[in-house]
Amino acid sequence: MWASLQGEQWDKALDRLAEYDYTVIDDFFPQSVLDSVEAEFERVEQAGALKAAKIGESSEERRIAEIRSDYIHWLDRASQTTLEPFFSGVDQLREELARAMYVSLLGYEFHLAKYPVGAFYKAHLDQFDRRDNRQLSLVIYLNQGWEPGDGGELKIHCENPEVIAPLYNRAVLFRSATVLHEVLPALKPRRSLTGWLLKRPSGVGALGL
Ligand code: OGA
Ligand code: MN
Repeated sequence: MWASLQGEQWDKALDRLAEYDYTVIDDFFPQSVLDSVEAEFERVEQAGALKAAKIGESSEERRIAEIRSDYIHWLDRASQTTLEPFFSGVDQLREELARAMYVSLLGYEFHLAKYPVGAFYKAHLDQFDRRDNRQLSLVIYLNQGWEPGDGGELKIHCENPEVIAPLYNRAVLFRSATVLHEVLPALKPRRSLTGWLLKRPSGVGALGL
């Protein structure tokens, strides 16, 4: 079990998630997981496998550069075997959260994301109109040396809007259906590992997603 998923810090994170629908957890991954994720990011980027992100359900995906301008690569547990320590951590995370929040979290989907300089993602919810499978969104930032003024903050739109810097090994966890959020323009290339914990296993469901 990762150190970040136990003890007082984790209990407080769960309390904030219950109260505000989102929570920020610093020092999220163990170093070995960070290393493997960063190595895979490097490999994917070198291979030209980061693709312009789309909006909406897969049946009607379109690219709308006015809404989002990041580049992504969907992860595949079966073939990206160096990421197994990450995925087995996600299994534990799902169990912990399902128990704490009395929800079922039987699936997941994750992608790597790169925001080039100037890229952004306008305010949105992560749950699509006709697909309610996404329960919780999880973003982990991979930006060493991110400074105030580098932009790229995650803005949470709520009664007291909060702006969260994409600091190295910081995780943000939030309810996909209710938390309106936005990525402010990045002034330096910005990297993250972003994903969703799903009610039903990925690949099952009305839309085949
Ligand atoms: C997303 C998203 C937030 C972030 O990919 O849907 O909102 O901080 N990402 O990268
Ligand atoms: Mn989002």
